[in-house]
Amino acid sequence: MIIGVPKEIKNNENRVALTPAGVKELKKEGHQVYVQATAGEGSGFADAEYVSVGAELLPTIEDVYAKAEMIIKVKEPIEAEYKLIKEDQLVFTYFHFASHEPLTRAMIDSKSVCLAYETVEKADRSLPLLVPMSEVAGRMSIQQGAKYLEKPLKGRGILLGGVPGVRPAKVMILGGGVVGTEAAKMAAGLGADVTILDLSLPRLRYLDDVMPANVKTLMSSEYNIREMIKDHDLIIGAVLIPGAKAPKLITRDMLKDMREGTVLVDVAVDQGGCFETTKPTTHQDPVYIIDDVVHYSVANMPGAVPYTSTLALTNATLPYAIQLANKGWEKACKENNELKLGLNVIKGEVVYKAVSDAFDLPYTPLDKFI
Ligand SMILES: NC(=O)c1ccc[n+]([C@@H]2O[C@H](COP(=O)([O-])OP(=O)(O)OC[C@H]3O[C@@H](n4cnc5c(N)ncnc54)[C@H](O)[C@@H]3O)[C@@H](O)[C@H]2O)c1
Repeated sequence: MIIGVPKEIKNNENRVALTPAGVKELKKEGHQVYVQATAGEGSGFADAEYVSVGAELLPTIEDVYAKAEMIIKVKEPIEAEYKLIKEDQLVFTYFHFASHEPLTRAMIDSKSVCLAYETVEKADRSLPLLVPMSEVAGRMSIQQGAKYLEKPLKGRGILLGGVPGVRPAKVMILGGGVVGTEAAKMAAGLGADVTILDLSLPRLRYLDDVMPANVKTLMSSEYNIREMIKDHDLIIGAVLIPGAKAPKLITRDMLKDMREGTVLVDVAVDQGGCFETTKPTTHQDPVYIIDDVVHYSVANMPGAVPYTSTLALTNATLPYAIQLANKGWEKACKENNELKLGLNVIKGEVVYKAVSDAFDLPYTPLDKFI
């Protein structure tokens, strides 16, 4: 198959969909790989590294879309790319269709085949191509939180791990899923006093079993949250209710009960945020202060660490990309239900129910195609 890797052109996106290692695997399977010049630069991969494993460089994004049977990228296509996508072309990337009507309509019009990372789903209902970014964001939330706890950045001026003779900081994590677990591991590793709150008792049991002694678990309730915020220095929002907006677990009135310089990191900002005072921010301007409480709520946290994020993402996407390249999308999806669930739009028809529901578009059951 002819595979194309365009350079990401969305603002501040530095990830790339294939690393040189990924290109090498696809070449071993006999595929032709075109990479747009400088596509890997933002993640630390030079053009020469791609060439050394057999990729062919193309100078422009137009060239890549024109040649490829399968486009593999990271972010959803932006408007400038809509017209480049061809009929029958397979596009394998994050789309997040249900939150973007113009994109959905453009992909329908393109008559391409859109396989979305975010809906590839395993039998246990986990989302293998979302997990790596949650892992990055979870670990990063503590790094950012620790930084903004510093006094010059308007935090309480407390060191997460303390020092001998001085107590460590107290970290409270709302939601013990992928993000919350990774955050807890980082905070615990730095020596903080950590508590994870979740609604799921089986999850709390599991976390209690596997976490080190400086991580405690607590049932999530308004009462417990109100008690905890009074003396916790860093609060991480990491809840998710699948398919719904995040619940507002910390309300505006609670801020007055927190100490000056408390830091809130709302990782769930992409689902509306789990603090009432959350509003999305960017890496250029990541924080704002309300009632002396520092809020960090960057919607694409992994974007700040493109080297790690690219490797984490491509570790997860490459096995699927190889199946798609070796078999073509129809056979690959027929033989692998995880991939099949990634199909959202096929040749002008919406085949993913939540997307058709979101915009009142006609829904075509997948079995028409495979
Ligand atoms: N900002 C970013 O860059 C970024 C990156 C990756 C993920 N995220 C977001 O982070 C959030 C968490 O993702 P995840 O992968 O960890 O999800 P997950 O499904 O693995 O975990 C969510 C957890 O929240 C718990 N929960 C639900 N309601 C709760 C409540 N009222 N109190 C306490 N816990 C509750 C669930 O039981 C579950 O354990 C999502 O909104 C996700 O979209 C953001």
